[in-house]
Amino acid sequence: PLVSMRQLLDHAAENGYGLPAFNVNNLEQVQAIMQAADECDSPVIMQGSAGARKYAGEPFLRHLILAAVEAYPHIPVVMHQDHGASPAVCIQAMRSGFSSVMMDGSLLEDAKTPSDYDYNVRVTRQVVEMAHAIGVSVEGELGCLGSLETGMGEKEDGHGAEGLLSHDQLLTDPEQAADFVKQTGVDALAIAIGTSHGAYKFTRKPTGDILAIERIKAIHDRIPNTHLVMHGSSSVPQEWLAVIREFGGEMKETYGVPVEEIVTGIRHGVRKINIDTDIRLAMTSSIRRHLATHKSEFDPRKFLKDAMLSARDICKLRFEAFGSAGQA
Ligand code: G3H
Ligand code: 13P
Ligand code: NA
Ligand code: ZN
Repeated sequence: PLVSMRQLLDHAAENGYGLPAFNVNNLEQVQAIMQAADECDSPVIMQGSAGARKYAGEPFLRHLILAAVEAYPHIPVVMHQDHGASPAVCIQAMRSGFSSVMMDGSLLEDAKTPSDYDYNVRVTRQVVEMAHAIGVSVEGELGCLGSLETGMGEKEDGHGAEGLLSHDQLLTDPEQAADFVKQTGVDALAIAIGTSHGAYKFTRKPTGDILAIERIKAIHDRIPNTHLVMHGSSSVPQEWLAVIREFGGEMKETYGVPVEEIVTGIRHGVRKINIDTDIRLAMTSSIRRHLATHKSEFDPRKFLKDAMLSARDICKLRFEAFGSAGQA
């Protein structure tokens, strides 16, 4: 069934596990996630970004997820809108049936420029008032997540967030988080704790303490009833990068967030873990390998099937590592 995010994350908090939230854009990604969830008996969060809506169109995106709900009636599914840039975007998603929305008021409506705190509180509270009236959950964001878009908060040396004083001010402030939750009533809060979006997170192999674990603890202590969300949580598997390079792809040396660190984050209150890049890498590496090794093949189902199976495998690994396996 389609469920709200609050329902799933409350269960995750009560039982001490985390839920991966996978970005989806097409049929194969939705099928990969559902097959993995079915095999490990995990609840599911699927989310669509603005880019996904642009790529697939909102009706296709919505119906793909509704098809998943119909095909797997025993698995609870959240249909979440990722990084809504304005109340209008969130209202549109709610009206079309999304059971959860993210109002990302950490940036202005252009989704690039950092906003001020009062703006963030104002737009997020507005969305919460409407969403809660119809049983939809709301994720807010506070702090400056490193991202390619803003060029801020990037932390590329692989030495961890706590060690970098200049970046410390970009991490979410626990007192401000408490005030934000009090003023907005969000169900979940995305926090800046040393991650960034995309494949290029760290230029050197992480040596431990990539995540600002002490900061996660401090935030969780102040807002124990608000579910913490970690964006930019792809681990960027080196074996997939190697396959991409072996079969003609060009990707610079890069590292993601080690799964063990995410698991430590979950122990300290992280409940929703956003993953997009890892599925992209899994699918791209499989497609490159398939086409390079089946040179006369021209049926897209063949290479898309391979891509789907690779995506399924990475989803299963995350369901198992984060502890949501067996919880559906
Ligand atoms: O939050 C970022 C997600 O990875 C979505 O990326 O905007 O390219 O769909 P996208
Ligand atoms: P990655 O780019 O690390 O997969 O993060 C995705 C994300 O945070 C979507 O909101
Ligand atoms: Na989100
Ligand atoms: Zn994100």
